Amino acid sequence: MDYLCDMNLKNITIALAATLFVAACAPKSDMDKYIADLMSRMTLEQKIGQLNLHSAPGFISAIRVTEEDENVKLLRAGQLGGLYGTGNTEYIRDIQQIALESGAGIPLIIGMDVIHGFQTVFPVPLALSTSWNMDLVEQTARIAATEATAAGINWVFSPMVDICRDARWGRIVEGGGEDPYLGGELAKAYVRGYQGTDGVYDDHDVMVCVKHYALYGGAEAGRDYNSVFLSRQEALNGYMRPYQQAAYAGAASYMSSFNEFEGIPASMNKYLMDDLLRKEWGFDGFIVSDATAIAEEVNHGIGDLPEVSARSLQAGLDMDMNSDGYVGTLQKSLAEGRVTEADIDKACRRILEAKYKLGLFENPFKYLDATRSVKEIYTPEHLAFARKAAQESMVLLKNNGVLPLSKNLRIAVVGPLAQNAAAMAGAWSMSAHNDECVTPLQGISEVARVTSAEGSWLFKDKELEESVRYGLYKIFMPGYQAPDIHTVPQERLIAEAVAKARQADVVVACVGEIETLNGEGASRTDISIPDAQKELLKALKATGKPIVMLLVTGRPLTLTWEDTEMDAILNVWSPGSEGGHAIADVLFGDVNPSAKLTTSFPRNVGQLPLYYNHKNTGRPHPDDKPYQKFVSCYIDEINAPLYPFGYGLSYTTYSYSPVTLSASEMPMDGSVTASVTVTNTGSRSGDEIVQLYIHDVYATSTRPVKELKGFRKVHLEPGASTQVEFTLTKEELSYYNHDLQWVCEPGDFEIMVGPNCRDTEGATLRVQ
Ligand code: BGC
Repeated sequence: MDYLCDMNLKNITIALAATLFVAACAPKSDMDKYIADLMSRMTLEQKIGQLNLHSAPGFISAIRVTEEDENVKLLRAGQLGGLYGTGNTEYIRDIQQIALESGAGIPLIIGMDVIHGFQTVFPVPLALSTSWNMDLVEQTARIAATEATAAGINWVFSPMVDICRDARWGRIVEGGGEDPYLGGELAKAYVRGYQGTDGVYDDHDVMVCVKHYALYGGAEAGRDYNSVFLSRQEALNGYMRPYQQAAYAGAASYMSSFNEFEGIPASMNKYLMDDLLRKEWGFDGFIVSDATAIAEEVNHGIGDLPEVSARSLQAGLDMDMNSDGYVGTLQKSLAEGRVTEADIDKACRRILEAKYKLGLFENPFKYLDATRSVKEIYTPEHLAFARKAAQESMVLLKNNGVLPLSKNLRIAVVGPLAQNAAAMAGAWSMSAHNDECVTPLQGISEVARVTSAEGSWLFKDKELEESVRYGLYKIFMPGYQAPDIHTVPQERLIAEAVAKARQADVVVACVGEIETLNGEGASRTDISIPDAQKELLKALKATGKPIVMLLVTGRPLTLTWEDTEMDAILNVWSPGSEGGHAIADVLFGDVNPSAKLTTSFPRNVGQLPLYYNHKNTGRPHPDDKPYQKFVSCYIDEINAPLYPFGYGLSYTTYSYSPVTLSASEMPMDGSVTASVTVTNTGSRSGDEIVQLYIHDVYATSTRPVKELKGFRKVHLEPGASTQVEFTLTKEELSYYNHDLQWVCEPGDFEIMVGPNCRDTEGATLRVQ
């Protein structure tokens, strides 16, 4: 409990919850005694060995343990504390056995990138965030935990909670979008889902690893791994909340990020790890580096491997993923006085505590019940939930009335992504049944009369397409022979699709990003629909047939032409195992779409970074007004995004009453209720996501033009109304001021409610 002394009063309730979680996990005195005793019997080398994390051979394809296996050699030498990157249960069982027979006999912690499902794949995290349904998100994490633990995994490298304002960054797909408040709610939901809520790790609970700490999503120019240039104040206000909320929710571990912050790589950044995460937020778990991040600090220009390893350890980084910096240099650094034995002990103890809390000392095979892997993975129930999650994560961006489709129509389903199962699975689905994901063509064919055609290549540039499609395989599968592509000329593909379109009543064109066009190491400077596919859309448009564009993507794209020319645009993202079924459910109106964007969609890549919660500037210019000299705008594009944060259409319509406040003045320690009546004015039942924003009119530091501070998802039958209420206290009105204090400053606040960040109406609240 001593860490509570360092906390602000405002955080005490949440911190208490986290403390109770930890306390319930393991009676601290028993754990302390056990670990002190264990460590007293460990050699220095064995202690350093606990700080070492390696990937399984072949990363994803570990089949059998052999004595030639590099990890086995390390284990036998007492130099391995954990392993990640395999869901192969027999392999895990065998290597765990070797761990018990080697050195101090300490079981391994087994990690894995379980990001949006394990074998059952859910929509990519950015898509899931557009459901604004925290129970749904929690349940996807719960199912992923059930499946992962049934395969022997006890630690997942999730949730990824990096805020991102720049769609060029491919890893925007892995997070919850651009808003720190929503990001915080998502972080808590994921932690609850993975770790469970009863404070004890039973055999269906995994430890989370919150990543990438910190500010990885702020990469300059959206280029992956790039430097981050943010002030502490902006970092705290705009980016940190999700990491902080995860700590308060009891997250067990964090992964340090690749980027630098304030000139210091995050993986050796004492301010981030020790001062903020541990001392201020009360986190008491362990921190692992991202893969080879310690070794990369040499490239950052900090020093050689011994130097950067020593500095990382001293800054509070406990575990080294794949750099061999700790096992390779710390003994010598200790002898030279660069680190102390206490530094090593501290990190070792944190890792042993995690293993203790997981129950691995009591039963190293706790997560290796062979019967579970048969019964609890990729079940019909899990797949049914994947379908529901996909239904709730599809954003209707445009509809001129063509949707929903009648099942009696003749439909031409065309486009290179219409039959691409892996594109449904999305960026992080290494353990998934990718080939079995239901494609759009399959889903639509099950309910309607369909013809189909591939329609186009992905890119006109063959080399580019090859490297996007097969680059990853070439890295992880030595000797991999990529299939030949562009074997059928693009003109022929287009002509076939056009012929099918001409005979149909409506065209469903499935285009966008395959799963390798976003994710790690997949930044783009041009975020439009790739050229070959755009050519297809233009040819289809020339037929005069109504076109529904199904957008498969992991990031916002620039869709100004499509928004004008297509009759409807349904953003289905990478929707997971049951994607094709969920697509059909929405297209034919069996499900009314309700998702709303959590990232702004720019009109033009030149607008990036683009985010709704920006500052006003001294020369503001209305978002929708054309160019004007000497104000903050562009000559060739308006400031507004094409689709704003919070935006998404439905097959019904809603009206909002003006906002009323229970009082127009609020004492600093009081509260006020903001209410609005929402009515379903259309003819279908639906779910509406009602959003509350605030604006601090005058503050001692500049404040964003709008900030999300609450949301509710309400179900409404046609004609029905409901009153939606939000309670506001000084907590929602506070921010980190210039001195980095969390303050609510007296004065006027605009309190706004609406269906998205653009179309809000508000009332003024005076706080005193
Ligand atoms: C990624 C992490 C991931 C790790 C292990 C890194 O390259 O940045 O998100 O967890 O690899 O696979």
